[in-house]
Amino acid sequence: MIRTDTMAVGWPDILIRTGQYKWMPPLPVTLGNELTGTIEAIGSEVSNLSRGQRVYLGSRELGFQSGCYTDLKVAPARAVLPLPDEVDLEQAAGLGYFSLAWALLHDAARGGETSALIIGAAGGAGSCLVQIAKQAGMTVIGAVSSDEKAQFARSLGADHCIDYRSEDVARRVLDITNGRGVDLILDPVVGPHFDRSFGMLARWGTVVVYNATGGPPGEGLFASWRATAAKCHGLRYFSMHVYEDDAAGRRRIIRAPLELMAAGKIRTPVARRIALSEVARAHALIESGKALGKILLKP
Ligand SMILES: NC(=O)c1ccc[n+]([C@@H]2O[C@H](COP(=O)([O-])OP(=O)(O)OC[C@H]3O[C@@H](n4cnc5c(N)ncnc54)[C@H](OP(=O)(O)O)[C@@H]3O)[C@@H](O)[C@H]2O)c1
Repeated sequence: MIRTDTMAVGWPDILIRTGQYKWMPPLPVTLGNELTGTIEAIGSEVSNLSRGQRVYLGSRELGFQSGCYTDLKVAPARAVLPLPDEVDLEQAAGLGYFSLAWALLHDAARGGETSALIIGAAGGAGSCLVQIAKQAGMTVIGAVSSDEKAQFARSLGADHCIDYRSEDVARRVLDITNGRGVDLILDPVVGPHFDRSFGMLARWGTVVVYNATGGPPGEGLFASWRATAAKCHGLRYFSMHVYEDDAAGRRRIIRAPLELMAAGKIRTPVARRIALSEVARAHALIESGKALGKILLKP
């Protein structure tokens, strides 16, 4: 049994709360997909963990998503990830999105990319992507909606930021890359202008979509894609559920960023700490699109 120190909030929590999640857990459900804390009690047959040990728990290891907005959590021993001394419990609460970022950059992208355009670079996932991409030695361009968000993405390592409300993103990307385009676009928004992505990609470049909060693409998508056939662009739709039956894969994509975190090379940018009793405020903040980084809940 884990005594919770910190819970993290992300878009999947909101999608589950509003019944829009593609992989809905059985209802009724306690929301929440990740927490960190200290082991308070332990089953008699568990030998690899000890009382007082600091751990991370992601709901993906529980068989269905949710159940982590709680001050005490019973979980099977195989589900918890022990934390090294160098990583504090608030930092570790952000590991879920770092594993998403790792998976997007190292599995969904197929290697060899040297530059990336990160849409929503100041958000929860975007702020992890910026850092993991920098750790991979990439040139990072962030697309954001305000000066404040641009400044924040730069503070995490973004080399360039484009304010998509006032600037022509495609033109800026081509300027920045000397006309070559970027190798990778990581996009959780999509929306009616999605087909413009192909005009910003380098030869063999790939767009990886990981949600479509801005709605579906316009009807011209196939024509735009085909028009750049000589650059052989790839289009991939990624979901963490690709690791559903792959426990080794899940371990790999969370342990790699945990090592970076322990070495002080990446950090969970904490946007706000909010009491669990005020979780509605945390959801409203994420839904407003105004949060910079990760929102944490305290029991
Ligand atoms: N595929 C997967 O396995 C997986 C796993 C976890 C999360 N996700 C997805 O990752 C995305 C990011 O989640 P998050 O927790 O990082 O959210 P977040 O903190 O709100 O960040 C999302 C960013 O997207 C930008 N945005 C642009 N248009 C938007 C719109 N119409 N609605 C909402 N945001 C918009 C906003 O930045 P600007 O204001 O700068 O535009 C915002 O900062 C979500 O869509 C979530 O569902 C996918």
